[in-house]
Amino acid sequence: MHPLFTPDGSLTLYSERFGQHYHSRHGAATQARVVYLEGTRTHLHPAPRVLEVGFGAGLNFLTTLSSALERGRALDYLAFEFDPLPAALLAELHAQHPLAGHPLWQAVLKTWGPGGLQLETPELRLEVRVQDVTGAALPERWASALYLDGFSPAANPEVWTPDFCARLAAALVPGGWLATYSAAGAVRRALAAAGLEVHKHRGLAGKREFVTACRT
Ligand SMILES: C[S@@+](CC[C@H](N)C(=O)[O-])C[C@H]1O[C@@H](n2cnc3c(N)ncnc32)[C@H](O)[C@@H]1O
Repeated sequence: MHPLFTPDGSLTLYSERFGQHYHSRHGAATQARVVYLEGTRTHLHPAPRVLEVGFGAGLNFLTTLSSALERGRALDYLAFEFDPLPAALLAELHAQHPLAGHPLWQAVLKTWGPGGLQLETPELRLEVRVQDVTGAALPERWASALYLDGFSPAANPEVWTPDFCARLAAALVPGGWLATYSAAGAVRRALAAAGLEVHKHRGLAGKREFVTACRT
């Protein structure tokens, strides 16, 4: 896998298995901030609890951790990933990130393994479960934010089905927000059918719209 620069200076990767990139080629870090962090209001939350579908290269996690550390808020982050990347690749990909040398990111890289990881400090509780999220038990009424970041619905359909969206909706606390880069009609309908209030937003440069959805 060869890292590829995106216009905002951040890197992404190409997945041979899914035939697409891990992030927006129009700005990987911008997508993580605008769609996921800000789209779910996590940058404003006093005690964020994030549930992520697809930990991937950990960019959404690092973006969320930066915001929590800057604001002096503890972050609780639970992610699912069935195909974990090697720690060396994660380190290489984020070598220029402002948190690259931070003890918490270094601890993540050190603890990272094929079985996932669990890390608990006063500032961060991070758990990455290495399993297919569609068969996993999800916490109910737990997440203030849900990052739905699988590969595209065409390439990775199982994480966008109406049934799975209903399970995701149940994991949100009332008032919690889900965000996803896909604005496909079927995805919006699945989220609405799960009882969420769906909002479509103007996309990043050159990209289609993205979607946020609130559990009212
Ligand atoms: C678009 S990438 C995620 C990028 C990541 N959120 C980041 O910030 O770097 C999609 C990820 O979802 C994972 N994935 C896809 N389907 C999955 C499933 N059913 N269960 C667990 N992980 C899945 C893929 O292996 C891939 O790492």
